[in-house]
Amino acid sequence: MKKVGIIGVGKYLPSRVLSNADLEKMVDTSDEWITTRTGIKERHLVSKSEAASDLAIKAAESALKDAKLKPQDIDLIIVATITPDMQFPSTACFVQAKLGAHKAVCFDLSAACAGFVYALVIAQQFIARGAYKNALVIGAEVLSSITDWKDRNTCVLFGDGAGAALLAEVESGGILSTYLGSNGSMSGLLMLPGGGSRNPASHKTIDAKLHYIKMQGNELFKIAVKTMTEAAKVALKQAGLKCSDLDLVIPHQANVRIIIAMAKRLGLSEDKIYLNIKQYGNMSSASTATALCEAVKVGRVKKGDIILLDAFGAGLVWGACIIKW
Ligand code: ACO
Repeated sequence: MKKVGIIGVGKYLPSRVLSNADLEKMVDTSDEWITTRTGIKERHLVSKSEAASDLAIKAAESALKDAKLKPQDIDLIIVATITPDMQFPSTACFVQAKLGAHKAVCFDLSAACAGFVYALVIAQQFIARGAYKNALVIGAEVLSSITDWKDRNTCVLFGDGAGAALLAEVESGGILSTYLGSNGSMSGLLMLPGGGSRNPASHKTIDAKLHYIKMQGNELFKIAVKTMTEAAKVALKQAGLKCSDLDLVIPHQANVRIIIAMAKRLGLSEDKIYLNIKQYGNMSSASTATALCEAVKVGRVKKGDIILLDAFGAGLVWGACIIKW
């Protein structure tokens, strides 16, 4: 089995910014409530002409540049998204066409906020076994397209963006351990009920607002803390490491209180956690992807560092991955 690592990272955030002050004019909320309950100050939103693939392509281009690779070098493209351009074809195929990555095999992956970690683990398998050389993994979301902008319980939480990583064989370090989990019996806690084969789009589903995110935030909060803590422990154990060996933790950014509670349970100081929720909100699969890119670019991740990616989301699904940079 080959050692697999990340050889390039990229991100893209759409330029439009919606602040908590803007939201105060839209729903019955306050900057104070949003900041203290979630840690979010603002989020980026797409323009009318932008879809998930547009964000994904820009993030991919910057990852390619970082890795010094050309689109023709890519063997595999996985786009983790719950907001694809359309039900089919896959957003990954749109990305392939626009990038000109003609030899790449392409598919989308639905694992909500854990999508980027799931996609990394899948890409790792192909490279480790020698099936593919270079894999492009993208987390891209336009959550604004499935957000009810009249529902204060959810609309303050989400944002749009994309992050990308290029994976290839590395001589040393790379992915040390991975852990994925799922529990479909709790799917009702977070879902988009409309538009699929269960509730095909109709006037009735639109009137019932079934095309918007439905979430039981309170329940999810507790499960997220517990599950992300356990996932970190399992991944550490599999890598033969302790919490104190970690240089940086890059968690999914759903709520700063979830992240701090998880850090406390793991005995990690807050300076070992990378946060970008304040500027972007929860971008589902794009959260860990952009956070990884930023952490690398600002020098929070250096060669030889041991980092943990840890994510949790709708499904329920979760995933953790330890990487020696
Ligand atoms: N502004 C003001 N008040 C609000 C707002 C708002 N935007 N939203 C809710 N409230 C009110 C509620 O109506 C409630 O009022 P009430 O007591 O009069 O009924 C009160 O605030 C408390 O509401 P809670 O839901 O209990 O607030 P909580 O502290 O739990 O925070 C939140 C809500 C932010 C959603 C939190 O529960 C959370 O982050 N949950 C986890 C989300 C998550 O992890 N999701 C999974 C990943 S996301 C993915 O996969 C796409």
